[in-house]
Amino acid sequence: LNPIKSKRKYPYNSGKDKHMSCEIYYFSGTGHSLLAARDMADCLGATCIPMVSRIQETKIQCDADTICLVFPIYHATFGASGLPVIVSDFVNKLINLQGKYIFAIGTHSGFPGLTMEKLAQRLGNLGGKLSAGIMVQLNVPYKTPEKMRHAFFKKPLDCDWDEDRKERETRMNSWHKSMANYAAAIKERESIPLDFPGPVKRIWWKGYLAFQKKMALAHYQELTGSDSVDFMALTLQADCTFSTTEACKGCGTCVKICPTQNISMIDGKPVWQHRCENCAACYHWCPSHAIEGDMMEYEKPVEAPGITIKDMLAQTASFRSKQ
Ligand SMILES: Cc1cc2nc3c(=O)[nH]c(=O)nc-3n(C[C@H](O)[C@H](O)[C@H](O)COP(=O)(O)O)c2cc1C
Ligand code: SF4
Ligand code: SF4
Repeated sequence: LNPIKSKRKYPYNSGKDKHMSCEIYYFSGTGHSLLAARDMADCLGATCIPMVSRIQETKIQCDADTICLVFPIYHATFGASGLPVIVSDFVNKLINLQGKYIFAIGTHSGFPGLTMEKLAQRLGNLGGKLSAGIMVQLNVPYKTPEKMRHAFFKKPLDCDWDEDRKERETRMNSWHKSMANYAAAIKERESIPLDFPGPVKRIWWKGYLAFQKKMALAHYQELTGSDSVDFMALTLQADCTFSTTEACKGCGTCVKICPTQNISMIDGKPVWQHRCENCAACYHWCPSHAIEGDMMEYEKPVEAPGITIKDMLAQTASFRSKQ
């Protein structure tokens, strides 16, 4: 692992505004969205609530007058909504959104696509309005040529780790700077224009996304051994590539950390149940690094600065309190 330190240069805890109540609902697999949610909560004096703690409700009513949704952007590269399944479900269940100030933060690794535009449409259909859609890249993926070499020639994935750390540090610092400005605007309930791509980019993307979607579909069909063309259904089953190495100690952390309760312990070993969000939490946070799986082959073993396994386990604490 290659940890980086975050340099928080803006005033934290700028104080709870007595005229504003704010709930920040988050979903996170590897910790970056939790980091963004926590930073923003700290700035606004808001409460962070895991989306998974309310996902069993049939309708979700948020009491605060300001609502924030924080999540990782998934599969935007393949022309999907960009929302993880759990986030999509959460949004669909929201009620009584009229008059609320709603903003969203999507963390990504370089291609957020049309996620905020689609989310704005979805909230509009539910009677709400997305006043700010912030997209932030905190993560640095392997470079495309590196991924191509791996995909076509099976070369091991690698990168210059010093360069990688520097780039992540720069991204983190830039997030902290821009976040202070966003927080000031949010406190005033200002609308921040959504960063939609222009018409030329859209035309170019149309072809690019169609190509990517074909590639991704073929990849997930290969992973699952299925010939289904339902991409999202295939992603739920892609956990069939997971297995454990001899390093597995049977500690059960993967079971506890999985936000979709997709892992059961059978004979002291994890068994995946095919309703997988592909969030990488089990893989990433296993204390023994004992999980392998083709689905995770492009995941970099890096940490979101300041986020611990204990922080991640808080996301699923509501499941355990009901057991
Ligand atoms: C299944 C999956 C799909 C992803 N798809 C995209 C994508 O389409 N575009 C992108 O920029 N990043 C994509 N990413 C990267 C994540 O959005 C990024 O790493 C995010 O910060 C992870 O947030 P988390 O640490 O809170 O889980 C994807 C990651 C995963 C695990
Ligand atoms: S977290 Fe890792 S070591 Fe613990 S049971 Fe799961 S796979 Fe095994
Ligand atoms: S099984 Fe692992 S990758 Fe799948 S949803 Fe659970 S924690 Fe995420």
